[in-house]
Amino acid sequence: MGSHATLATWTAGFVTHSCEETERAAEAFAALLPSDTVLALEGDLGAGKTTFVRGLVRGLGVTGDITSPSFALLNVYEGKRQIFHVAAYRLTQPEAFDDLLIWDLAKSPWNVLVEWPQKVAARLPAARWQMKTTDRKLDWHGGGVLTRPPSAGTRSPA
Ligand SMILES: Nc1ncnc2c1ncn2[C@@H]1O[C@H](COP(=O)(O)OP(=O)(O)OP(=O)(O)O)[C@@H](O)[C@H]1O
Ligand SMILES: [Mg+2]
Repeated sequence: MGSHATLATWTAGFVTHSCEETERAAEAFAALLPSDTVLALEGDLGAGKTTFVRGLVRGLGVTGDITSPSFALLNVYEGKRQIFHVAAYRLTQPEAFDDLLIWDLAKSPWNVLVEWPQKVAARLPAARWQMKTTDRKLDWHGGGVLTRPPSAGTRSPA
């Protein structure tokens, strides 16, 4: 809702109580995330990362199914921007991120959304946006905290 429409809300962090609420908030976040940026989504198994991505990708104008790339590793969507959604959980080496060929495929405007960024941190640009979700109960009550890179905005793929 309205309160999710400012970056201050995200950097302060807040709690959502349902996946619908997470999706709605993430949809609003689409207007805050600049294009040509990488967003790293940290959080435990089932913390709500994919749920967040679903809302964000909808917010970027994609209407079809938005599913977890746990097995495909990478899902690509075309909305107002080209969106690369990566689940790096099963990547055993950071270099495997390069094999996804994202930097060959990306044409501005794009965003790269990475679940389990810890697995491929060495291959991600230092100037990335970071979202953290914390698991407080069996079902997700995610307190998301957003960190912006020092120079938020356009960056060149490394
Ligand atoms: N507030 C909430 N926000 C998001 N999801 C929630 C919330 N409350 C409960 N859920 C449920 O928690 C689950 C989150 O699953 P999701 O696939 O988004 O997690 P994930 O972080 O992507 O997991 P993985 O690490 O396996 O990729 C969903 O089943 C969702 O319905
Ligand atoms: Mg997921």
